[in-house]
Amino acid sequence: MFHINANYRKLPGSYLFAEVSRRVGEYQQQNPLADVIRLGIGDATQPIAPAVLEAMHKAVDEMGKLDTFRGYGPYEGYDFLLKAIQQGDYLCYGIDVGMDEIFASDGAKTDTSSIQELFAPDVKIAVTDPVYPVYVDSNALSGRLGEYDGQRWQNLVYLPCNAENGFVPELPKEKVDVIYLCLPNNPTGTTLTIEQLKPFVEYAKENGALIIFDAAYKAYIHSGAPKSIYQVPGAKEVAIECCSFSKTAGFTGVRCGYMVIPRELTGLDDLGNPQKLNALWRRRIATKYNGLNYIVQRGAEAVYSPEGRRQCHETVEYYMNNARLIREGLQKAGYECFGGVDAPYIWLKTPTDSWSFFTELLNTKQIVGTPGAGFGPSGEGYFRLTAFGTLENTKRAMERIAK
Ligand code: MLT
Repeated sequence: MFHINANYRKLPGSYLFAEVSRRVGEYQQQNPLADVIRLGIGDATQPIAPAVLEAMHKAVDEMGKLDTFRGYGPYEGYDFLLKAIQQGDYLCYGIDVGMDEIFASDGAKTDTSSIQELFAPDVKIAVTDPVYPVYVDSNALSGRLGEYDGQRWQNLVYLPCNAENGFVPELPKEKVDVIYLCLPNNPTGTTLTIEQLKPFVEYAKENGALIIFDAAYKAYIHSGAPKSIYQVPGAKEVAIECCSFSKTAGFTGVRCGYMVIPRELTGLDDLGNPQKLNALWRRRIATKYNGLNYIVQRGAEAVYSPEGRRQCHETVEYYMNNARLIREGLQKAGYECFGGVDAPYIWLKTPTDSWSFFTELLNTKQIVGTPGAGFGPSGEGYFRLTAFGTLENTKRAMERIAK
């Protein structure tokens, strides 16, 4: 019989959120009348903004008429969307990003998991710990991380972020080739200032390393923290940035994101010749992808219209009000918690190990959260609650926790 990719065998049982969902399903089967409140996965609950909907409706109608129908679109995304992103997310903040450096996609999960296809099999990867599991699992599947001992991957460099270091990761002590950063951070809900980010850009320059910067939660920043790594001088020489409409505009089901791959980003091929990552990615998507659908792209464009911006901002504020309620509710109940100021996640310290806390919270309060251990070894002893629930459910959850 044929052989399968051996790296699948090495992966932990199941993907974190699938495992949470499996356990909740089991609980609900045993307790069919339980009124379970889900504050686990960071999935949007509020409807799409009217301005965005209107643009999508119009695009649907265009598809039904001979003179406005569209077939295959450009692999990178239509110019109208690339231009809206360039203007609305970069030029208006004084950040110089070209349209030819932006690639629209079906989301940051796809981009952050696929980008590793451009790296050699033996590049050394570093991640902040805890971390969004997609970065780790996708590299594990490509065989870069060696074996998993139930807690740690043999060839992965972990950069711990915890209450002791104020969730500011130290630079890698050894030489690494790729560093994944997610800011504002999923799962801790904390972020870094420009000054705290600068050493990472300097490290990457000195060591010929690449930074993959996941900015999926940038719409939630309320402090002066950077919304883009390109606000750090010189970052365009060393960083790819991934962004998402999922959390900004409720597109978790619609699907749209984009990646910025600056023209100057260069790696070496097996013959020692420099290769531009932007050109390699263009080559890759033309082979594997036929572009994002037109209707979604028109919707994403409308996120940047004055009405779209205002309406999406209102929804972000709705979730941030939930974040405040969760933070205050937990603090009142005596929990030490972090995040929830620049991000829709609240990260709390647990009195027991994080999976036991998960089970206890589900059994005694019928509340679902995400155990910190699922995000990496430094996540043990912590627990994540999301602010993406409805206001009503968030209030009910906090009432249950207060009791
Ligand atoms: C999360 O809960 O961490 C996110 O919703 C997962 C994702 O964005 O894929």
